[in-house]
Amino acid sequence: MSEKTKNRILVTSALPYVNNVPHLGNMVCVISADVYTRFLRLRGIDVISVLGTDEHGTTTETKAIEEGITPKQVCEKYFKIHKKIYDWFESSFDCFGRTSSRENYEITKDIFKKLNENKFIKKDILTQAYCPKCRKFLADRFVEGVCPKCGYKDARGDQCENCGALLNATELIDAKCKICGTKPITKESEHLFIDLPKLAPMLEKWIKKQSVKGRWSQNAKTMTDAWLRDGLRPRCITRDLKWGIPVPLKGFEKKVFYSWFDAPIGYIAITKECRKDWKKWWFGKDVKLVQFMGKDNIPFHTVIFPASLIGTKEDYILLDRISSNEYINYEGGQFSKSRNLGVFGDDAIKTGIKADVWRYYIMVNRPEKSDTDFSWDDFQSKINNELVANLGNFINRAISFINQFYKSEVPEAKPDKKHEKLTKEINNEIKKITGLLDDIQLKDALKNIMHISKIGNQYFQETEPWKAINENRQKAETCLAICANMAKDLSILIRPYMPETSSKICKQLNIKELDWKELGKLSLKKGHKINKAEPLFTKLEDKDVEKFKKLFGGKKVEEKREENIKDIFSKLDLKVAKIISVEDHPDADKLIVMKIDLGKEEKQIVAGIKENYSKEELQDRNIVVVTNLKPAKLRGIESNGMLLAAVEEKHGKENVKLLSAENSSPGDDVFIEGIKKEPKEVVEFNEFREIEMRTDANGHVLYNGRPLKTQKEEITVEGVKENTLVS
Ligand code: MF3
Ligand code: ZN
Repeated sequence: MSEKTKNRILVTSALPYVNNVPHLGNMVCVISADVYTRFLRLRGIDVISVLGTDEHGTTTETKAIEEGITPKQVCEKYFKIHKKIYDWFESSFDCFGRTSSRENYEITKDIFKKLNENKFIKKDILTQAYCPKCRKFLADRFVEGVCPKCGYKDARGDQCENCGALLNATELIDAKCKICGTKPITKESEHLFIDLPKLAPMLEKWIKKQSVKGRWSQNAKTMTDAWLRDGLRPRCITRDLKWGIPVPLKGFEKKVFYSWFDAPIGYIAITKECRKDWKKWWFGKDVKLVQFMGKDNIPFHTVIFPASLIGTKEDYILLDRISSNEYINYEGGQFSKSRNLGVFGDDAIKTGIKADVWRYYIMVNRPEKSDTDFSWDDFQSKINNELVANLGNFINRAISFINQFYKSEVPEAKPDKKHEKLTKEINNEIKKITGLLDDIQLKDALKNIMHISKIGNQYFQETEPWKAINENRQKAETCLAICANMAKDLSILIRPYMPETSSKICKQLNIKELDWKELGKLSLKKGHKINKAEPLFTKLEDKDVEKFKKLFGGKKVEEKREENIKDIFSKLDLKVAKIISVEDHPDADKLIVMKIDLGKEEKQIVAGIKENYSKEELQDRNIVVVTNLKPAKLRGIESNGMLLAAVEEKHGKENVKLLSAENSSPGDDVFIEGIKKEPKEVVEFNEFREIEMRTDANGHVLYNGRPLKTQKEEITVEGVKENTLVS
């Protein structure tokens, strides 16, 4: 074994926020860490892995308000859900715990005290939004109001979605508390900061060295460099919340630590929760810390957490290697927790598809260097072509042939030139795979493993043992003996990825579960008795895929929001409008100001379509307008409605196409069959945004599967792809 593998290794997987059911996108990190840990175990390395839930902070408090229970109850409930899902996915963690544990309280306070003693904590006054009705300080994204930069009226306190400006909640005009709608006041309050500038020299020195030594991934290096380049600033580590670890400092008793301060410390605490020898790991000179996470977590693990540890001046181990994955999207769209869209852990369980199969798909699709996409069609094709037709087929052929023609006894191998070449090829592959796994390139390693299986299938096919058995018995026997041993190799190689399947192969081959050292050896010898072949994987049928698509392909969102949204839809007043005049907005490059005819009245609207349509193209056109949106001022000019258009990305630009109703008259109602129109006086933009209308293949606009129409025609839109969002 090489020098580097002699070390002990501590593997962590980013602690998922407790307040949500994890979806497949979240599973990438958890399963990656598990595959890597299992690989290390198979190589006989002393390794432990740590996972748990991240429980503190605003998100948990908000969830508690939503569900009408306490934050603690939220954690109890969701902790169980998380645990069950990771267990089901066969995550074999040595330590599983939570950041709200007694251990984390202790260690977090201890680390804070040491930082404070070592003068790495500063005080400063923050001016924050405070809701007098909810009686709490509001995190930036819990404040909404008009953007001071562009006048967009639904800007969030941290960022304006319209112009992209980064904001502070206190800058918003007409600000409102997102929870209760009350106008927040600003209030000053003293907070604690970790003095990153003071820690910077030590930190930068460490990062420079470790990022090379630990072969940090490109995205980790780039992001960390950007943080250092922009200059480290003191970072606030306290919050005015109730749910969290109380700050053990006079004058700050009512505050808690920011969850990003105590969450990474949770790795240490969870180890302590589960193991007496936790110090041996976190203070061990020979221990390497390998951390898995999504890319948005990088700076917390490369800068802030190490800074907290360095500042204690104790001998905590620091990050050695980092594996920071990109994201998995769902069916081409966002795979988002907040929008609840996609396949979630509990859904995966309900499909009846085995955990191993999910693990395989997530790993073979692992977003290692760029984002990847989960789609049901791709999922089906990979199961059927790769697992069933390649891996499953090879193992099954080899074993059932020996069952049938050799009374389940492995025949003798007498390798000739051809077999030597094959053995060499396989041994090369094994070397390559081991290297890739060492390097945490889990996707490529898996692809190479599947390649071995493919080589096996080809070899079987070319050697034709079913013929050879009559013509050249020795040839047939050698082939079968080699294939049986390849099956053994595959059972070892896939074990980190598909532990259950690996066990099944071992059972069929009648061997105990072998470790990495046994790879490439012809250890199944003449006379070794094997068991009956049984299929390893089942084909995923079209009808199942259709069913799953219906169940999860956006349906989940619909189920949850259907009533709500239908409600909102019925409150919209959609009408056909004719454009009477078009003028440039005096103060904005992209906006135009239009007068529109709505039959009984005329209105003025402002729209951002100047780059997409000329004035001539717009003049006299019939469009579709939402007439009862709350009026907004766009760069100083009032807009009394919003036109509807399909918007897609094309060559990096927005391609905007207006909906049209050329055969209808101004003022005609636009509606959906089956949804009764009961227009409310004003609809908030936020509410409107919940409504998802998309184009279909025929250029119609569908909502809930039904076309948008007037009494005379269906609304149309040309020049965009099917399934483009209308907004
Ligand atoms: N809960 C965070 C997330 O899901 C990750 C926390 S990682 C830890 O993005 F290091 F803080 F634990
Ligand atoms: Zn409020």
